[in-house]
Parts: sequence; C-alpha cells; structure tokens
Amino acid sequence: MAKVVIMDHPMIKHKIGIIRRKETGTKQFRETISEIAMLECYEATRNLELDDVEIETPICKTTAQEIKGKKLAVVPILRAGLGMVEGMLTMIPAAKVGHIGLYRDPETLSPVEYFCKLPPDCAEREIFVVDPMLATGGSAVAAVDMLKKHGCVKLHFLCIIAAPEGVKVFTEAHPDVDLFIGALDDHLNDHGYIVPGLGDAGDRIFGTK
Ligand code: PRP
Ligand code: URA
Repeated sequence: MAKVVIMDHPMIKHKIGIIRRKETGTKQFRETISEIAMLECYEATRNLELDDVEIETPICKTTAQEIKGKKLAVVPILRAGLGMVEGMLTMIPAAKVGHIGLYRDPETLSPVEYFCKLPPDCAEREIFVVDPMLATGGSAVAAVDMLKKHGCVKLHFLCIIAAPEGVKVFTEAHPDVDLFIGALDDHLNDHGYIVPGLGDAGDRIFGTK
C-alpha cells in the first residue's frame, strides 16, 4: 500500500489560504500554485535514491551524494496541472515533462481524454503526476491508467486540494501510487466541486471563465 501524505507545514497552509480567497487575482494565484508545487515536490522526492560521489572541497577530498540516475519526469494533467510544472522544475530542473490532456464532462463528471505526449523512455522514469485538484478522482485515475499503459511503474501523484471522495477512489484504483495532498477538504458539492475548495483551478490559473 502506497503512502497518502497530507502536507502539514505552515508555509503550505498559509499559501493555500491565499489561493482559496475569491479575491486573489490570476497573477498571485498562479505564482502561489507554483510555490506550493515546489514545497510539495520537496516532500514527494524525499525517498529518491542517492549515489555516493567523490568530490573535493577547497579544504579536502570527501564523499558527497547526488540523486541516482536523475531519471525523473513531471506529468501535468492539462490544463490546471500546468500551473504546478514550474515549481516542480525549480526543484528538479533536469526532469523531462510529459503532458496528459483530460477534461471533466460537465454533465457526467467523467474524464475525457484529448492529449497524451510522454517522454519516450517514460517507463524507466520516476514520474510525478501533478494536478491541483483531486475531486471525484476520475481524472487522476484516468491519467495514471494512461501512464501505466505506457509502462510507467514508479508513480507519484501530487495535488493541492483533495476531497475525501477522490482520495478513496484514487487509492482504491491505484494502491501502488504515493499520493501527496496539500489540504484535505470536507466534501464535493452537487456539481463535483470541492468544498470549501478554491473554485475552478484551470479558470483561476489562466484567467478564463
Ligand atoms: C479539473 C482539475 C482536475 C479535475 C479534477 O480539471 O484540474 O483535472 O478537474 O476533477 P475530478 O477529480 O472530478 O476528475 P477540469 O476538468 O476542470 O479541466 P481544466 O483543467 O482544463 O479546467
Ligand atoms: N476541478 C476544479 O477545478 N475544482 C474543483 O473544485 C473540482 C474539480
């Protein structure tokens, strides 16, 4: 069984308070999403393997450590996941980036796939899927299904706000995938929006309505 980690850090709590506020504008919303992604990335990469390397400081020779192989990839779920990419790449700049396009059908709330472009060696990479919102869990489950069909096995999912309903659906569908959550909210409303949530993440990041 994989881990479910709910971030318990004052910096993340403070920044989530900013993106929840309805008066927060596009610029600040986008910047804050990126900063939260960077902080979550720090936690999600905690167990990356390290290699010992011999180096020389200005004083003497010593053994330092570096991340093994550096075979990482970030995969945002379009559109809103794009908002988390820059923050992730600030922490892991050598990572490749794949894209999965999914939108929720407004009537059925089921995910509809419209794009998939992944690094050709994605099956060998440690993959960090990013999407700010885990609501019904349909999009997250579908994205990880797609990645597994491409042979990916080392998978982590990072979201900023999750509903309990989505956490249950995701962990039952993909018990092997670590899930990192910025804040666990109360419930979904009748339209599949997270309560209290932050509204429509894609619209708030890109200034659409
Ligand atoms: C949002 C969000 C997730 C999805 C979560 O995307 O970014 O991808 O909804 O909902 P779910 O857990 O019920 O599947 P949306 O479909 O609004 O598309 P967008 O990012 O293009 O706005
Ligand atoms: N997608 C969003 O952007 N917000 C929600 O509350 C639920 C799904």
